[in-house]
Amino acid sequence: MSEKTEIIICLGSSCFARGNKKTVQAIEAYIQEHDLSERVYFHGGHCFGNCENGPILKINNKFYERVDYISVIDILAREIED
Ligand code: FES
Repeated sequence: MSEKTEIIICLGSSCFARGNKKTVQAIEAYIQEHDLSERVYFHGGHCFGNCENGPILKINNKFYERVDYISVIDILAREIED
C-alpha cells in the first residue's frame, strides 16, 4: 500500500491542555525513530467536539479516545506496520 497514514492530533484547548501537548512530541519522536516521515502525514486538528472523552487522536478514519503519550506508542505500532 502506498497511501500515507494520516494522523491528526486534536489541538483544541481541552485536549491540548490535558496531554496532547506531550503526545505531539511522542508521535514526532516515534516517526523519526522509525523513519516513517515518508509514510505518515502527521498534523494537528481543531476540536473534534468530543472533549469529554479526550485527549483525542485520529488515525485514518479511526478515533482514539483518552490517548496519552504512553498509550500512543502501542496505537502507532498497531496502525503503522513496519
Ligand atoms: S479539544 Fe479535542 S475534542 Fe475538543
